[in-house]
Amino acid sequence: MRKLYLLMMLCLLSCKTEKAIIPTGLMAEKAMVVSAREEASKIGIEIMKQGGNAFDAMIATELALAVAYPYAGNIGGGGFMVYRKANGEIGSLDYREKAPLASTKNMFLDENGNVIAGKSTETALAVGIPGTIAGIFEVYQKFGTLPIETILKPVIELAEKGVVITKNQEKQFSHFRNELLKANGENSLVAKVYNENDTIQYLALAETLKKISKNGRDEFYKGETAQKLVDYLNQNGGIITMEDLAKYEAKWRTPITFKYKNLNIISMAPPSSGGICLGQIMKMIEPFDLNEFGHNSVETIQVITEAERRSYADRSYYLGDPDFVKVPVKSLLDKNYLQGRMSDFSLEKATKSAAVSRGNVSVYESDETTHYSIIDQFGNAVSVTTTLNGAFGSKLYCEELGFFLNNEMDDFSSKPGFANSYGLVGAEANSIAPEKRMLSSMTPTIVEKDGKLNMILGTPGGSTIITSVLQTILNVYEFEMSMQNAVNAPRFHHQWLPDEVIFEPNSFSSTLLNDLKQKGYIINQGNTPVIGKVDAILVLPDGRLEGGADRRGDDTAVGF
Ligand code: GLY
Repeated sequence: MRKLYLLMMLCLLSCKTEKAIIPTGLMAEKAMVVSAREEASKIGIEIMKQGGNAFDAMIATELALAVAYPYAGNIGGGGFMVYRKANGEIGSLDYREKAPLASTKNMFLDENGNVIAGKSTETALAVGIPGTIAGIFEVYQKFGTLPIETILKPVIELAEKGVVITKNQEKQFSHFRNELLKANGENSLVAKVYNENDTIQYLALAETLKKISKNGRDEFYKGETAQKLVDYLNQNGGIITMEDLAKYEAKWRTPITFKYKNLNIISMAPPSSGGICLGQIMKMIEPFDLNEFGHNSVETIQVITEAERRSYADRSYYLGDPDFVKVPVKSLLDKNYLQGRMSDFSLEKATKSAAVSRGNVSVYESDETTHYSIIDQFGNAVSVTTTLNGAFGSKLYCEELGFFLNNEMDDFSSKPGFANSYGLVGAEANSIAPEKRMLSSMTPTIVEKDGKLNMILGTPGGSTIITSVLQTILNVYEFEMSMQNAVNAPRFHHQWLPDEVIFEPNSFSSTLLNDLKQKGYIINQGNTPVIGKVDAILVLPDGRLEGGADRRGDDTAVGF
């Protein structure tokens, strides 16, 4: 009896009271895929309807995005997958790109040690060794159930039949047309003018996928496709060799897990900063009653901003590829350390980033990435974020093979060892080295509530990825929104440097912004019109699924 009483008291103190949330997104009974394109979500669902599991669907969705969403979907890039099986087993796969063997620490610097503009973003040297095909075959080997030909069939058919251009895609192709022309010439498939409702057939990509379907992973890393890719990159001044491709391996990693009240959060470990930063921020805000403060109230924005400021300062200094640098994961997520970090926070006025910082290196990341969330009819959950880094990656499109190459080398710190005004050395942990993986912000995440699967989510958005995932979880958990409303809600972002809070334009009242200005916050409403593009699934208490497909793009939930 006494034990039961203690348990009830503990629950009253630490658990939130349940309030029924009315769903507003697409509902499904058994399985769902939410991704950046309807075609990709439908193909993922088709695979599950054929009896495939979430991992089979992951392979199909990943490749379908390479066809239908070349802006970020890829076979020339890399990504991360976090999973939770129906039996509660969790894990993650790192198929992030790697630096080529011939890469050097200063490869993007001139003779005076200055960063050469564009070299790490727009040249063949910007290309990291692609990991996507290794990633999907690693997933297939461990968890796949359907024949690989069955999984790839609808993707190849989509590439052959063609993809209808949406208004958003028309804008993407037109916005980057000059760069696509410069990189590929006017005869290139991707440099043509495309309008809404045009159809693009990706026939070269279909051929490449057919070869991969027939010959497996080695086609891409050792076979004819590998040789063509290396030849293409060499002709364009790249340094990736057959040896680089042959040596590439995706890696299973232990995910980052941490508690936030009665949630258990499972997210990506380094070389992504996502899981650690999400954990740091959530631990720093846990002692505050955000629900009492209110959604997007001055106080809530302050608490979240100050936690973000402190976490991004740590990110810049400590994080890098764990195969090359020691990342102090335990210390960074230590509750006492994090509460100490917030000890100088006051609701009266903003902390200055200079008073928090460990270095003056601001980590720049482009925001063109894509995320998809999957749950299958067996209860397995998969959360995947994948990227080419920039929009259409390096813009280099291998015509013969039919895909874009990433410019992920730019996610390294091109100029590490640079001492700041405090004499501290920043970003050494993320310096370039052969076979090293560049630091990422991608945060594919799965949330358990009271031990049960609760949410699957993630987003593109470069450095805003972590804060978008954070706000989406809080919107559901603290502010009791439906999945779709949580994804739709306006977002803000702070990343230590530059010392400003970015707000989605026209979404926050001038009174609120003025209150924050009074407290010393620098407000930016113009820089990033879109903060994140979250695709998420919520498991309701009755087991039904609610999709959250971001209104900011063509994102679509499909389920059954
Ligand atoms: N390229 C974006 C990221 O990995 O975070």
